[in-house]
Amino acid sequence: MTTTEPQIEIEVHLAANGGATMAREVRLGLSTDPKELAPKYFYDERGWQLFERITELPEYYPTRAERAILADRSAEILAAAGEPGTLVELGSGSAAKTRHLLSAMRDAGCLDTYVPVDISEEITHETAECLVEEYPGLAIRGLVCDFEHDLERIPDGGGGRLVAFLGGTIGNLYPDARREFLARLAALLGPEDRILLGTDLVKEPARLEAAYNDSSGVTAEFNKNVLRVLNRKLGGDFDPDAFEHVARYDAGEARMDIRLRSLADQTVRLDGLELEIEFAAGEEMRTEISSKFTRERLEAVYEEAGLTLAGWFTDQAEDYALSLAAPG
Ligand code: AVJ
Repeated sequence: MTTTEPQIEIEVHLAANGGATMAREVRLGLSTDPKELAPKYFYDERGWQLFERITELPEYYPTRAERAILADRSAEILAAAGEPGTLVELGSGSAAKTRHLLSAMRDAGCLDTYVPVDISEEITHETAECLVEEYPGLAIRGLVCDFEHDLERIPDGGGGRLVAFLGGTIGNLYPDARREFLARLAALLGPEDRILLGTDLVKEPARLEAAYNDSSGVTAEFNKNVLRVLNRKLGGDFDPDAFEHVARYDAGEARMDIRLRSLADQTVRLDGLELEIEFAAGEEMRTEISSKFTRERLEAVYEEAGLTLAGWFTDQAEDYALSLAAPG
């Protein structure tokens, strides 16, 4: 793909061995007890489409809540972050919600550089082309990579950086991985830099469970999509109809626990792994956790990663939070 605009630079660092990594991770996950698959494998093209539909479900409030915070409070967030010149966004995609932040930066006169970081080269190029039209003078230094591995490639930016990680994706990480990820991010920050993190908040279990057990069954299809991904990428013969979607709130761990339950005793083949896997009737395989936070808990999460809470912005119902974290 070619880019004509001189103010766009996009570096690509995609691992050539992505397939080998997936094979290794899936083999490991299917051989542990209980079985487990990483949520990143939901997201092929169909998975993204299903997730888009989830964000529009009446029961699924997080996306709307986050958009409302950004729409209403971006100027305040920018001021609290010290009016940075550079916005880095991890998992930037089409940057739909990001425009609120970019516009607030433009209006404050500090907008200089946008650094989209995403696994998809195509969407990163498309987004960059759109944004340079919409924000004259904006420089784009994109990074196409798996940011969990390539975090250290994030460029320095003039005028301080705000590193946004939106959407509540941090909730997918187990505590150890989350601490390690935030600590690595913290190590990259200069004293002026800030993190902007989107997190879903603890609330009544009934509302949480409804958000992951929608009445139209889209979340169930999304969950089962991981089986289709394994079939295609690893030569599997999973029958998605032989599993049912299970999503429960684990109050002790403050997280949604999302699984696929085998409806029968069955054997699944994965030709690409030369592997046969047994599932017992009723056996559950975890496909995702989605952690929920309180302000106090997030303060502790930041502290153990070498960060300090430096701003707290919620929607009116206090369903969801965007928080600022500073190094130190
Ligand atoms: C994209 C990880 C934030 O945890 O709410 C939505 C994914 N899974 N419904 C979430 C998801 C089921 C979502 N995140």
